[in-house]
Amino acid sequence: MIKAKEKVQSADTLKLRQRAEALIQASSTESISNLPEDAVRRLLQELQIHQIELELQNLELCQSRDNGEALIENYTELYDFAPVGYCTLDRSGTIQRVNLTGATLLGEQRSKLMNRRLGLFVSDDCKPLFNEMLAMVFDGQQKKAQCEVVIHPKGLRSPTPVKIVAMVSAGGEECLTVVIDITERKRLEAQVLTTKDELELRRAQERSAELLELNRQLSQEIENRKKLEKTLRDSQLRLRNLSANLQFIREEERKAVAREIHDELGQLLASVQLGLSLLAGEYFDHPKLNSRINDMEILVSNAIRTVQRISSELRPVMLEVLGLADALQWQSQDFQKRTGIRCNLTVFLLDNRVHPDVAIVLFRIFQESLTNVQRHSQATEVEAQLVERSKNYTLMVCDNGKGITLEEISSPESIGLIGIRERVFILGGRMKIFGTPQKGTALFVRVPVKPKEI
Ligand SMILES: Nc1ncnc2c1ncn2[C@@H]1O[C@H](COP(=O)(O)OP(=O)(O)OP(=O)(O)O)[C@@H](O)[C@H]1O
Ligand SMILES: [Mg+2]
Repeated sequence: MIKAKEKVQSADTLKLRQRAEALIQASSTESISNLPEDAVRRLLQELQIHQIELELQNLELCQSRDNGEALIENYTELYDFAPVGYCTLDRSGTIQRVNLTGATLLGEQRSKLMNRRLGLFVSDDCKPLFNEMLAMVFDGQQKKAQCEVVIHPKGLRSPTPVKIVAMVSAGGEECLTVVIDITERKRLEAQVLTTKDELELRRAQERSAELLELNRQLSQEIENRKKLEKTLRDSQLRLRNLSANLQFIREEERKAVAREIHDELGQLLASVQLGLSLLAGEYFDHPKLNSRINDMEILVSNAIRTVQRISSELRPVMLEVLGLADALQWQSQDFQKRTGIRCNLTVFLLDNRVHPDVAIVLFRIFQESLTNVQRHSQATEVEAQLVERSKNYTLMVCDNGKGITLEEISSPESIGLIGIRERVFILGGRMKIFGTPQKGTALFVRVPVKPKEI
């Protein structure tokens, strides 16, 4: 290629020289011949210098041309064999220039692509996107725009997903589009998605297996708890029955002891008292002995009162004799007398014949409540009420003391309160106790008029 160039170059130089000689001969043969020899020599010398300068310039020009041609060659190679397709379009989207890669992508010979519209290769559903992109760059909204479409190359090649980047040229009449085959990227994306799906599926399977196992354990746990709860309920029921039985036995024993004390000890003391008064009558003229007898009489009558008190505490006779309402009134007044705490009791019963099991429970609860007020409350007043309403008895005992705390209410050591709760429960009733600091304590008990079968 270089040799051929050199030949062309020497032929050009020769022609140029011939033309120059002809011109010189035509214009100045006569004038040079008239010149003196010295001047001719100088002229010749200058001509030689010019010639050398011209030759040097010529050499530079040739080098520049060679460089230019080499650049064009390089550029053409880069353009044609670029890894992406280049396609220059006019405003109507018609192909003006296209590189070889572009032609290969479109599956058509380069020459056959000229003056055909690139949009013809774009799949129908992607055409709006492609047209919108072209409109955007040609309308000047954006200098550069891009879209991803599917093209249908000519021939046997299957539809190819491509990314098209369009850049408008300086004049605004053409745009250069870069067409990039993204088949591989799409394949990888799809693969990633599939892998992700598979992973998610596997994870979901693992998770559901875990959940199933957890569920199984939970069901087992629930089953165990249910069994435990049943055992607990059964033992609670047994305990309650035992407690009910104990309460009953306790009351029966109290009655028996009270009867024994009252009948046996009471009779004995009454006999002693009678004997002493007979003795006093007999020895009325012995002042010393008489005074001793009197002292003993006082002691014995104190002992009789104590026996009566103990026996009535053990077995509230007035409950049987007077009925619940009066027995409670007696208890309230006795409490006020003993403690100095004012006790105001209101009773409202539709029928004074209260079932004995209920009566003894209400009596004992009232007794325990008053004892608690006396021992713990520091109260000065008690307001109590027993009301029969809607087939229930409601007993309320309120004091104005320091107030019971939540811990004291729920403490397993509060045996007195547990006893109240149990007694009420046995009858099928309910019990509540509230405390307000420095305001007092209120106890509410509700039991059915007809107690549950014990
Ligand atoms: N009216 C009240 N005012 C303030 N605190 C009270 C009152 N009643 C009970 N309490 C508190 O509740 C606790 C539990 O009472 P509970 O009757 O169960 O037991 P107790 O009276 O201490 O002993 P027990 O009754 O077995 O002889 C008491 O120790 C007391 O601290
Ligand atoms: Mg108590």
